[in-house]
Amino acid sequence: MEVCTHPKGVQQWLTPHRQQHQRIALVPTMGCLHAGHLKLIEQAHQHGDLVVVSIYVNPLQFGANEDLDRYPRPLEADLRACQDAGVDMVFAPANLYPHGQPQVMLHTETMANRLCGIHRTGHFDGVLTVVSILFHIIQPHYALFGEKDFQQLRLIKRMVDDLYMPVTIIPVATLREHDGLAMSSRNRYLSESERALAPAIFATLRSMQRLFCAGETSVNPLIQHGLKQLTSQNITPEYLEIVQNEDLCPPHKAHAACRIVIACKIGQTRLIDNLPIQSDNPIQSVGVQP
Ligand code: PAF
Repeated sequence: MEVCTHPKGVQQWLTPHRQQHQRIALVPTMGCLHAGHLKLIEQAHQHGDLVVVSIYVNPLQFGANEDLDRYPRPLEADLRACQDAGVDMVFAPANLYPHGQPQVMLHTETMANRLCGIHRTGHFDGVLTVVSILFHIIQPHYALFGEKDFQQLRLIKRMVDDLYMPVTIIPVATLREHDGLAMSSRNRYLSESERALAPAIFATLRSMQRLFCAGETSVNPLIQHGLKQLTSQNITPEYLEIVQNEDLCPPHKAHAACRIVIACKIGQTRLIDNLPIQSDNPIQSVGVQP
């Protein structure tokens, strides 16, 4: 496995592979890899001849009071995990902004100014800027993103469409712990008691999903049902909403192409999750019962 720390090294290493028309599948990450990332890598192997993983904790997507400094950076363990997963090349730059604060950035519009965007000002501008930089450097044919970050996934898809970027975005279903908690690098911040509470998030989404499948399509009763469940566990969500998959806008009535999306703090740890409102797919997990 090749490890590159500089964009020029990436481009040099990729050139002969590109000349042989090999297809490149990119898995962008901020490191601290877990089973969810390994699933992205596994799917990447199904699409590309070469799998590239980027590892970079992008300062542009962290707000002033967020966890940039304490974000875990276990690079050695991440490289071992990539090696074991058959990754061809890791791009792990020390700094993608050598000239300081970039003077040219991507600016997101209304789709980013809701849900997480309300609570994390500038976050999606930072995400899209770094993802577009990675696309410029690596020029992948495919890029894989987890559905757990649903708003991020939808915005990246819109960026690729709006800017005519020659890359296909592959969404990958959320991988869950045995009790339904969505896998996330931030789960490691949870204390034992917080970890015991966290599956209430998934349980709430599932319960709303069941209510929809039983015939309730009015948004308010569905939301109230979910809020009641959360309140009974002393969880106050930052948001709990039903949105249309395509534009993340609230529907008039809930329908099959909608998603239930949630963000809440368990202790000091901000967790997000989402489920399609209609459970037509088996839930991807490492043991949870759908
Ligand atoms: O989802 C993430 O890990 C990050 O937001 C991403 C896409 C790697 C950009 O930094």
